Parts: sequence; structure tokens; C-alpha cells
Amino acid sequence: MKIVVDKDIVLETLKEKDVQESFELVDRNRGYLREWLHWVDKTKSVEDRMKYINYALNKQNNNEGLDFKIKYCDTLIGSIGYDLGDFKSAEIGYWIEKQYSGKGIVTKCCERLIEYLFKELKVHRIVIKVAEKNIKSRKIPERLGFKQEGILRDVDILHGQYHSDVIYGILENEYNKK
Ligand SMILES: CC(C)(COP(=O)(O)OP(=O)(O)OC[C@H]1O[C@@H](n2cnc3c(N)ncnc32)[C@H](O)[C@@H]1OP(=O)(O)O)[C@@H](O)C(=O)NCCC(=O)NCCS
Repeated sequence: MKIVVDKDIVLETLKEKDVQESFELVDRNRGYLREWLHWVDKTKSVEDRMKYINYALNKQNNNEGLDFKIKYCDTLIGSIGYDLGDFKSAEIGYWIEKQYSGKGIVTKCCERLIEYLFKELKVHRIVIKVAEKNIKSRKIPERLGFKQEGILRDVDILHGQYHSDVIYGILENEYNKK
């Protein structure tokens, strides 16, 4: 599946054939991504990346969510996806190559994915969970009109330290009022 974000940015579902390019993207952004993403240190080889792609394809086949490549002018630069939950809810996650960050690309991709989730999939609620100290990422739901719903204290251990997660949510009626 393909979702057009704007004239340069397209979201396309992750496929088996993407494994090499996708691994190389993770590998050259290792230092940048590992600060907030657990799975980066566990992704040591193309085979490890394939395990993730298989997991994503399985999720897709079971109608439990989708993982998209973010393509900028036909170059793979990151990933965005969602997991479907109970009671018509969805949770979004994302990451992008360092050199393409700070340009508003992930915000644009989220905006388009949120539109797809509310309008096409008819979900009722969308959640984004972000580490409390990940200020760059927190700005994304804040910019898009999500409400801070709570903080899960010390819910995670990253690089040997406890971290809290901030839960941001937006409901269908709040989105439609925008
Ligand atoms: C966090 C992360 C996803 C942010 O990606 P991003 O593309 O830089 O985020 P945005 O799309 O919101 O871009 C925002 C920046 O672009 C700038 N910008 C430029 N044009 C913009 C536009 N049209 N709209 C919005 N922001 C724009 C903003 O000023 C902002 O800059 P700032 O960070 O200096 O305040 C990215 O840094 C990343 O992948 N980090 C590592 C992994 C990670 O933390 N993932 C998230 C886990 S929850």
C-alpha cells in the first residue's frame, strides 16, 4: 500500500525486498537512533532486520497494523507505522535518518497517517507514547493537537537507566473539530 504525503514524500508498506536497504539505513544511523529505540542494538545484521520485517508482515496479514517506509524523492529515509488496539484504537511510532530530521518530515507523515486512520480506518482514538526526555519527539504530538493524558513512571529501561513515558492521545471528535 502507498500513501502520498506530498510531492516529495511517500509512505509505502515495508516488504521483504527492502531488507538490505532498510538494514543499511539503521546501520548508518545507529548512534542517533539507539538513544531512544531499544531494537537498534539488537539489529546487528541483515538477518536481524529480516526478522523485524517478517514480524511486520505478520502484523499486516493479521490486520493488526502496518509498517511503512518513509521515502523522500524515492530514497528510503525512515519508518512510520501503527498498531491497532482494542476498541478502535491505534498507536503510532516513527523514526527518521538523522540528516533528514529537523525539516518537519515526520510531522507531515504523522499528519497524513492520522488522516488515514481516522477517515479510512475509522479508528476512534490514536495514541503516541514518547520517552519523557525525548523532547524532539514529544513536539510532534504536541504540534498535532494531541492531549497529554498521563505519564507512565519508570516504565522502561534504556541504556541501564529507568525512563518514564508520556502518553499523548487524540480522539476522532477532537480531530474533526480542527
Ligand atoms: C524524533 C524524530 C522522529 C523527529 O523527526 P523530525 O522529522 O525532526 O521531526 P519533525 O517532523 O517534527 O520536525 C521538526 C523540526 O523540523 C522543523 N520544521 C521545519 N519545517 C517544518 C514544518 N513544515 N513543520 C513542522 N516542523 C518543521 C521544526 O522547527 C523542528 O525543528 P526542531 O527539532 O529544531 O524544533 C527524529 O529526530 C528521530 O527519528 N529521532 C530518533 C528516534 C526517535 O526518537 N524516534 C521517536 C521515538 S518515540
